Amino acid sequence: MDKQKIIVGATGASGMPILVRCLELIRQNGKYESCLVMSRSARLTLEQETGLRAEEIYPLADKVLQEDQTGAGPASGTFPTKGMLIVPCSMKTLAGIHSGYGENLIQRAADVTMKEQRTLVLAVRETPLSPIHLRNMQELSMIPGVHIVPPMMTFYHKPKTIEEMTDHIAAKLLEHFGIEAEGYRRWQGI
Ligand SMILES: Cc1cc2nc3c(=O)[nH]c(=O)nc-3n(C[C@H](O)[C@H](O)[C@H](O)COP(=O)(O)O)c2cc1C
Repeated sequence: MDKQKIIVGATGASGMPILVRCLELIRQNGKYESCLVMSRSARLTLEQETGLRAEEIYPLADKVLQEDQTGAGPASGTFPTKGMLIVPCSMKTLAGIHSGYGENLIQRAADVTMKEQRTLVLAVRETPLSPIHLRNMQELSMIPGVHIVPPMMTFYHKPKTIEEMTDHIAAKLLEHFGIEAEGYRRWQGI
């Protein structure tokens, strides 16, 4: 059976280790394949946060597209996908999606995902949040299929390392696509 595609957009917000982990988990799952689109700012932030160049993480994705490839498959609703994950999602890209601006392939693919009522998971990151950021998130959260999932720290699963915290956040993002990450520690109750 053909694997279903998950479009993975990466923008210039903080959180690049989470992007890397999500790509690894999609690859491990076996049911899905990833199509990675990184913005120019995402490449800069990746280098700042991990010391890696974009080309070094490309092999984790099944397909790589550039943000200026606005004629590529994900720009059309006829291109079949399971949905789209944007990790991390900057406030700029959030605003572009909120307004339906479609400036680049990431924003256009998100627009298509919403109009087709597929799953769109936005790992939005900024702090503190302005009223504009909050309005954009609140209004987008009302659209069927849209999930606003800020990569927030959690302690209840008792992470011992940053990697364990990263794994937990990545698992929470991917469960919206029906992916159960190995080692995901769900709350069992007290
Ligand atoms: C190291 C670094 C960290 C950043 N973190 C954030 C962030 O957490 N959230 C955010 O909205 N923008 C952040 N920015 C700013 C964005 O990269 C910037 O607004 C950029 O224009 C976003 O463009 P894009 O959405 O097309 O990737 C950061 C920039 C740098 C260099």
